Parts: sequence; structure tokens; C-alpha cells
Amino acid sequence: MNGIKKMHKDNHIVTIFGGTGDLTYRKLLPAFYNLKCTDNFPDHLHIVIIGRQPLTSESYRDLARPWLQEHSRIHVSDDHLDAFLNHVTYFEMTFTEDEGYERLFTRFQDIDANAKKLYYFAVAPSFFEIIAQKLEKHNLAKDSKIIIEKPFGNDLKSAESINHTLSNIFDEDHIYRIDHYVAKEMVQNIFTIRFANEIFKNIWNADNIANIQISANELVGVENRGNYYDHTGALKDMFQNHLLQILSIVTMDKPETMDATSIHEAQEAILDNLYIENMDQDVIFGQYTQNQESMSYRDEDKVDEHSRTETFVALKLGIRTPRWRNTPIYVRTGKRMHKRITEVVVEFKQQDHAPANVLIIKIQPEEGIYLRFNIKKPGQSHETQSVLMDFCQSCDYENRMNTPEAYERLLNAALEDDHSLFASFNQVKRSWAFVEDIIRHHQGDEPETYPAFTNGPQGSHDLLARDGFTWIEEEIRNDAYDL
Ligand code: BG6
Repeated sequence: MNGIKKMHKDNHIVTIFGGTGDLTYRKLLPAFYNLKCTDNFPDHLHIVIIGRQPLTSESYRDLARPWLQEHSRIHVSDDHLDAFLNHVTYFEMTFTEDEGYERLFTRFQDIDANAKKLYYFAVAPSFFEIIAQKLEKHNLAKDSKIIIEKPFGNDLKSAESINHTLSNIFDEDHIYRIDHYVAKEMVQNIFTIRFANEIFKNIWNADNIANIQISANELVGVENRGNYYDHTGALKDMFQNHLLQILSIVTMDKPETMDATSIHEAQEAILDNLYIENMDQDVIFGQYTQNQESMSYRDEDKVDEHSRTETFVALKLGIRTPRWRNTPIYVRTGKRMHKRITEVVVEFKQQDHAPANVLIIKIQPEEGIYLRFNIKKPGQSHETQSVLMDFCQSCDYENRMNTPEAYERLLNAALEDDHSLFASFNQVKRSWAFVEDIIRHHQGDEPETYPAFTNGPQGSHDLLARDGFTWIEEEIRNDAYDL
């Protein structure tokens, strides 16, 4: 399951729609480059970049070079870069017009008539259907695989329509729906931490766990994506996909096997049983305002000056299964927060007034695990003190070098026909249905404000305080002694 495996791979032509966009330069090409450097690249793989700009393959390669240098996790040497870029060619076409697809067919014949085709849709969801239909019309879809970037639609209705069109054209086995958070090293590690440790396996339930906190806080604002973001907001951009994926991996029952179908079923069982007890109180929307180092969200480029779009959301959720009866799960994500940190905090129930045990799975930027537990304070007395075991996986150079980027893992998995890192449509559908309920209830609400580079709106802290909890932050960890 899930890791990068060195296997023989079939000949492939990977075609990237949206080949001159940020995602291709920042993530996809560096990921392919890294696969090549780590010997995970098929001998016969050809990458066709689709774009509207009038470029030659040579001029495209020149454009791509500095991006690869900046964004590859593995050192880029000129020789390696040239060897890699030899696999990349540029193809100018407008993907809404038939003419280009006819030429594309011929191009594929010239490259390798027998190669498997993998199409990467790195474009806005409104183009997914039209590209798929044109591929079919021009005989380019049969037996081909497609990777669909998130967001998979803008709401339940558009997601269903996209899925309907795609599944009329491609086999379900050939559709790969991306959520790159699933492929992050420490998200994959949750399976091992939960299921390969007796000490956690048996206490992972409402009897022992007081609450779970999932945070994905970012320092960045909306950068150059104001237009997309202002129509999307944190709930749809991060919660509907990345955070619900993490949540379902953290809380699901052990899948029967570790294949994609069993994992998806276990996750779907969680998504089916999610609820929000009090829609008014348990959902907090925030929006960042100006401070010395940042403009306010409403002043960002391509953002409506009266925008009510949330750049932060915090929610309290419950899961209607015996394992999680009455256990609150708090989830938050925000832009322009005081610190970039993605992590899962599991706070155990307090026993005999001793400080609660806490397990923290650190997803990024640091990867690792904290465990807070109690010991006797050295000395004559029998006072208890909390100590911290802190395992930093990414502090080790070798570990860092051996850890593929999420997109490396995803591209490799799609080439290998492994679906375990990708979302099923049932997951996508349930996630949208859940999020739409929240939107229906909060449509048009004025978000609470928080100054940029702070810890989110007050409402997010009150949300936990009402239940007698706090977001477990750095300061609280520091109260414990490092071991
Ligand atoms: C994307 C969101 O899916 O994930 C972005 O659209 C967000 O808004 C990004 O910044 C975060 O990804 P990562 O891997 O940098 O944490």
C-alpha cells in the first residue's frame, strides 16, 4: 500500500492539461523529476505539456528549469535536469476546441502508439467535463487513466455532474481523484501509528479519548488566487477535502485489508455518521484583517472589498458510532495564521486529576510525534509532572531524503494503478453533502475578524472553552519538560 515501490512500469504518455499553470511548475514537474532521481521513473515515460501559449518544447523547458531548481526536494544538477527534460515536450492547443485533439492523436502515434495514456486535469473543475468529452470524441479516452485535481466540483451538484460525465467515458478504475494531503508522509503514518501499536489500538475510543483536535494553519494569505478563493473560502478549499480526509483516517475503524476499497469503505462509514450538534454555535467563520505586515483579506487583489468569504473556519463535530459516542472533534484551518502548522492532537481523558496524556501527530512543517505523559517529580515528594517525548522524523537528514513529496507518491501510485491514495466518489459526495449543510445554515454570515498573523478569531477559542478544553498549542507543550 501507499509507499513508493520500485516496480516495472508500463510505457506511459502523461498529458498535463494546465501545463503552464503554477501546479505543474511547482508540484508536478518537480515530482516527476524526483521520481526520476530516485529510480522510480519508467524508462519509457513521455510528458506532454498542454498549453495555449505559443511555445516550443525548448522554450518550455527553459521556462521550467528555474521552477525545478527552486521546487525540487532533490538537488538539481544540469545533467540530471537535461536528462529529465528530454522526456518533456510542449503541445500548443486550446483545450475547448476540437482541432487540437486531432493533432494530439497524431502526436501520440508519433511518440509511442502502444503507450498507456494518463491525463492530468490540472485545470478548474468547470473544464473537466469538456476535456473528457473531447478526448472521447477524438478517440483518445479508451483505456486511458485520468487524474483529477481538487476541487472535485464546486458543490454536490457540480461534483455529481462531473462524475456522471467522467464515468460514462472512463472506467471507475481509471479515475484518480486527488487529495494531496492523503499522500503526506505523516498522514500515511497515521495508519501505522494507530494499527501497529498495541498501546494506541485499544484506547482509540470514547472511553479513553477526551477530544481530538485537527489543525491546518497556514501563514500564507490568498497569494495570487483571490478570484478563486473569494468564490471558495476555507470551508470548501481545505475542510471539504483535506481535513475531512485526515479526520476520517484518524477516526475510522481498522479497514479489513489495506487495499483501496477497504480503506475507502472505512472512511465512508465515518463521513456517513458525522454531525454538528449546534449549527449556530459550533461553526466559526473568520476573516483576516490588516496588521503591520499584511493587508486585510478584503484588500487583496481580485477580492471583493465587502467580501464575506471566510479565510478561517473552526468547527466542532461528532461521529455517530459507538466508538466515538459524545467525543468532540475540533477542526480548524486558516490563512494568515501566526504559524504554519498541520497536526492532529489526541487529548486523553484525565485520570485522578493528573494532567491529561496527549499524543500529537505532527504533519507539517515538522514531521513527527509528541507524547505527553506523567511521571513522578524527582525528589522526596510524590508530586506528578508532565514530560514530553518528542520524536522528530524530519530532523534526520536521511529520513528527509527518503520521504517522497505528496505529489511524487500520487503520480507514482497512479502509474502503478494503486487507488489507495485517491478519493472514491462516495467520499467526495458525502463530504460535499456535509459541507453544504453547513453552508446552507451560514450563508451570508459576516465572519468574525482576526488580525493577520494571529491565532484566529476569539470564537474559535470559545468553541473549546465551552467544553472545558483549549487548543493544545506550543505554550502548553512547553509547560512539560522535554525528556
Ligand atoms: C490547497 C489549497 O489544496 O492546499 C490551498 O487550495 C492551500 O489554499 C494548500 O494553501 C495547502 O497545501 P500544503 O501542502 O502547502 O499544506
